[in-house]
Amino acid sequence: MTTWTPDDMPRLDGRTAIVTGANSGIGLPTALELARHGARVIVAARSDAKGAEAVAAIRRAVPAARAEHARLDLADLASVRAFAEGVDEVDLLVNNAGVGMKARSLTKDGFELQFGTNHLGHFALTGLLLPKLLARPGARVVTVSSDAHARGRLDFDDLTLERGYGRMSAYGRSKLANLLFTLELQRRAERAQADLKSVATHPGATATNIVKVGPLKPLIALFLLSPETGALPSLYAATSPDIRGGEFVGPKLRLLTPSADARSEELAARLWDVSTELTGVRFERIAVR
Ligand SMILES: NC(=O)c1ccc[n+]([C@@H]2O[C@H](COP(=O)([O-])OP(=O)(O)OC[C@H]3O[C@@H](n4cnc5c(N)ncnc54)[C@H](OP(=O)(O)O)[C@@H]3O)[C@@H](O)[C@H]2O)c1
Repeated sequence: MTTWTPDDMPRLDGRTAIVTGANSGIGLPTALELARHGARVIVAARSDAKGAEAVAAIRRAVPAARAEHARLDLADLASVRAFAEGVDEVDLLVNNAGVGMKARSLTKDGFELQFGTNHLGHFALTGLLLPKLLARPGARVVTVSSDAHARGRLDFDDLTLERGYGRMSAYGRSKLANLLFTLELQRRAERAQADLKSVATHPGATATNIVKVGPLKPLIALFLLSPETGALPSLYAATSPDIRGGEFVGPKLRLLTPSADARSEELAARLWDVSTELTGVRFERIAVR
């Protein structure tokens, strides 16, 4: 499997892909390779300037690319709704954007920033786009999690983390939520016999903006993956015919085992209900367990 490269991707002409956070890090090469293989790519970025620059970079590398920018701030449910309303069709959703290791703060809707952005924003986005995804054959949702999920704990009595905040544990919690969501979405899609695969990825330690290592960054970057290599699990999960729903693809495209918490169906069901309540987004057709 380690010999797989983007050259092995199938043609994606006629398919529309959305990549969140496609203006930076792992998201940009993900969007670029999808465009190189013929997909129409929507670069979902919160900054218009950064989104436009990413589209320009994609077009410089792939002059025939069908790439466009649309504004999406995952830390603002009104923005998520406006973005989803503007989408005409989508076959492939890559929930890639993320914030990490930040000081405690809240989103516009009052959610803890990392949980609100990385999980609740993508939960709402996926739910709002679900009717459009289900209208297309072979739809996929790829959600970028992390091996850091294993350090996350979900305390439903303190979702805003007022009683104790750690940057790493808050990040780990958001990545645990990404995995619980991925697996629950897959289970619900299967029960509803929906033609949709839900897959999670861990890119591996990659030299991007999210990795805060202070003045030693250039040195430490030598030991990290390039963004192009970090994008391989997302690209493989998004396009390989060999992938199965519910899989967790890691570096070198190895299949990883989620932590015991991430595999808990009870925890996943509770998180789903809480996320539905907090965002007000119900997943049509697969709402019932
Ligand atoms: N790098 C690693 O070692 C590593 C390891 C495991 C998992 N991951 C995961 O990989 C994914 C991509 O991260 P990265 O490493 O490529 O880091 P990155 O370079 O910091 O990219 C993160 C992207 O998310 C966007 N974003 C942040 N908050 C947002 C919001 N509220 N609304 C919309 N977009 C927002 C950022 O936009 P701005 O440019 O506007 O900030 C940026 O485009 C994340 O989910 C991360 O958790 C990374």
